[in-house]
Amino acid sequence: MSSNGNKTILISGGAGFIGSTFVMQMLATQSNLRIINVDALTYAGNLENLQSLEQDERHIFVHAEIQNTELMDSLCRQYEVEGIINIAAESHVDRSIHDASPFIETNIGGTVSLLTVARNLKLKKYVQVSTDEVYGSLDLNSDELFTEETPLAPNSPYSASKASADMFVRAFHHTHDVPAVITRCSNNYGPRQFPEKLIPLMILNAKESRSLPVYGDGMNVRDWIHVEDHCDAIWRAYEYGKPGEVYNIGSDNECSNLHIVHSILSILGKSTDLIQYVTDRPGHDRRYAIDASKAKRELGWAPRIPFEQGLQSTIEWYLEHPEWCEHILSGQYRDYYSQQYHRER
Ligand code: NAD
Ligand code: TYD
Repeated sequence: MSSNGNKTILISGGAGFIGSTFVMQMLATQSNLRIINVDALTYAGNLENLQSLEQDERHIFVHAEIQNTELMDSLCRQYEVEGIINIAAESHVDRSIHDASPFIETNIGGTVSLLTVARNLKLKKYVQVSTDEVYGSLDLNSDELFTEETPLAPNSPYSASKASADMFVRAFHHTHDVPAVITRCSNNYGPRQFPEKLIPLMILNAKESRSLPVYGDGMNVRDWIHVEDHCDAIWRAYEYGKPGEVYNIGSDNECSNLHIVHSILSILGKSTDLIQYVTDRPGHDRRYAIDASKAKRELGWAPRIPFEQGLQSTIEWYLEHPEWCEHILSGQYRDYYSQQYHRER
């Protein structure tokens, strides 16, 4: 507890898709919580996502890289931070195939930096927001699920960087007694997701009657979860997760990419002629599926948003926020920092 009576946590990546949802959701539901939000504002960071919090004194935005250990240390001291939730990452598989270096710097280097701070300041909790992709790929025709005991077998440079980070979290817990917890969630969808990822890309392309690029045969399977359900699980992992433990998070909702694309076209009343099969992603994982029973049992968590309802409301969000979409597509969102938010706090 800080001297001002608030509980203060540092989260990273709070201008991105999951991070911004997390910040808004937590400030709306946890009345005594103050959040120090550290984000480097890469291409994926968008301060327009946090517009509704500009007057909220419980939200302190810091434009910085998590690899800056000295700064992270001094922020934690200055604001009497109780714990860290590391959400920041380079998050797109296709970009990692093109160039792995930012993935090493942020996903591995940034994680070690925050773990070092948690260790030095003996923070009460550290949560690493990881991914089911660290487990590799499942057979399309099996009914096998990823459990927390499934061996790590990352296949993309992205998942290799996330798996490496998880190993450092494990090591800092084992060697330095950092009270660290790892969450491994399946594919998220929802408002404010950057339109390089499947669902928002397909929504925006379909809306404009542009072609929808489906990799390979479109039969790759992901286990989709609404971002708000994921954020609820992250918070429960922070509050109730046992140090040293891993929690898988998923919504029992396996869908092929083609099924998703057909659903989006049908909701938008567009023709399936827009589907364009394109060259497959190299090393493309075939199927992800999560067994989330441990999180349900030990964190008292359960997903609440059925996929059909969540997809419908996500599509509505993109239709109702043409400015957000336009600013992303034109690159104008990157000016937001200098126009609206250029002040010291
Ligand atoms: P995102 O790409 O939308 O956002 C990432 C955020 O991190 C951006 O705001 C970016 O500016 C920030 N960032 C990047 N490098 C940084 C650095 N060095 N220092 C500080 N900030 C930095 O990603 P997302 O989809 O919101 O994913 C968030 C986390 O959740 C990631 O760790 C990802 O691995 C994990 N995850 C994502 C999904 C998914 O489906 N999106 C599923 C499971 C886990
Ligand atoms: P993506 O949203 O990039 O998430 P991830 O690779 O982390 O699962 O991709 C989800 C699935 O959609 C994946 O199987 C790749 C596929 N995909 C396409 O078919 N076309 C696209 O344009 C994109 C971005 C993804």
